Amino acid sequence: MALEMDNLHPSLRSGWHVLCRSNELTSQPAVFLLLNVSYLAYRGPTGKVVVARDRCPHRRARLSLGSCDAEGTLQCPYHGWRFNEQGIAVEIPAVPLGSPLPPRAHLETPAATEERFGMIFIALESPSTPLPVVAEDADPAFIRGDLPVLTTRGSAGLLADNFLDVAHFPFVHSETFGAEAEVAVPHFEVIREERSFTARHQHLFSNREDPGVVLGLRPLLQQRALTYRYTAPFHLTLTIDFLDAGGTNVIGFFLTPETATTVRIYSSLWRNDLEDSTSRMDEAIAFELAVIEEDLKIQSTYEELILPLDLNGEVHTKADRTTIELRRVLADFAKSYLPPSTVLISES
Ligand code: FES
Ligand SMILES: [Fe+2]
Repeated sequence: MALEMDNLHPSLRSGWHVLCRSNELTSQPAVFLLLNVSYLAYRGPTGKVVVARDRCPHRRARLSLGSCDAEGTLQCPYHGWRFNEQGIAVEIPAVPLGSPLPPRAHLETPAATEERFGMIFIALESPSTPLPVVAEDADPAFIRGDLPVLTTRGSAGLLADNFLDVAHFPFVHSETFGAEAEVAVPHFEVIREERSFTARHQHLFSNREDPGVVLGLRPLLQQRALTYRYTAPFHLTLTIDFLDAGGTNVIGFFLTPETATTVRIYSSLWRNDLEDSTSRMDEAIAFELAVIEEDLKIQSTYEELILPLDLNGEVHTKADRTTIELRRVLADFAKSYLPPSTVLISES
């Protein structure tokens, strides 16, 4: 069978995914879908982020219908079992106080949870890839702006493909920035690093926004470097360095496969050229949203919501070098996945 990546591919259990933004967490459970399964998340009183499957180990009721107390202990709404921030049952009202509690009375928690760039990343099984890196996030010269979370019909693999692709700019983005884009795709240098790659290209462009051009300090035609960084399964950043006028813009895309047919898009901008101007960041966010909406007109309408990983499944050209590398990395990611061996647990 041809290798392909769909939103529910088993290997995705070993990847990092954004479950939600940090500012969506409160002291009470909220529910988010990942790989067609509901997870609850809340922030305990010590600041700890608690994530667990929204299913009680007792009779599988939705734990998110329960509530947390001041200690961050979550109580199931059905029979009142209480679970601490580590997910361990600490009280079962139906059994006498002091009785031993079943060792399997604990929440189903992800293998790893991390908070980065204002987002909660989880890996359901031991992650086979590193967390994505955005070095600019720790640089005080940069400010971050978050786009609203978008939920769309689509394939996370196809969307990653789309956000790495430059050949569609003149056609899909003619009403935003595409009119200025070159039709022929320049050569991108692609450097592979395990389950990530970097693709770089430097070119001349007309910097119409540079006040230095009007003042005669710099020519209109200036150098700009584009750097795409991709990390499997579905994280990528585009860094634009304005080499003559100065300044760096970073656009990050973190795609969460929510169900077989839907994806949540988390996108943020990091910029060091806005002088802390909130209104200019708001404008930049509105512009980026318009660009993504243009992409989604195509991406949300695919009949088959899969990314073929076998290169014979589609026709490629030299201009597709970056997105061919995406298929190679994802093929390695998918092929190297080994489901955890079934562990037989004896009833105690
Ligand atoms: S189902 Fe949760 S306590 Fe029974
Ligand atoms: Fe696009």
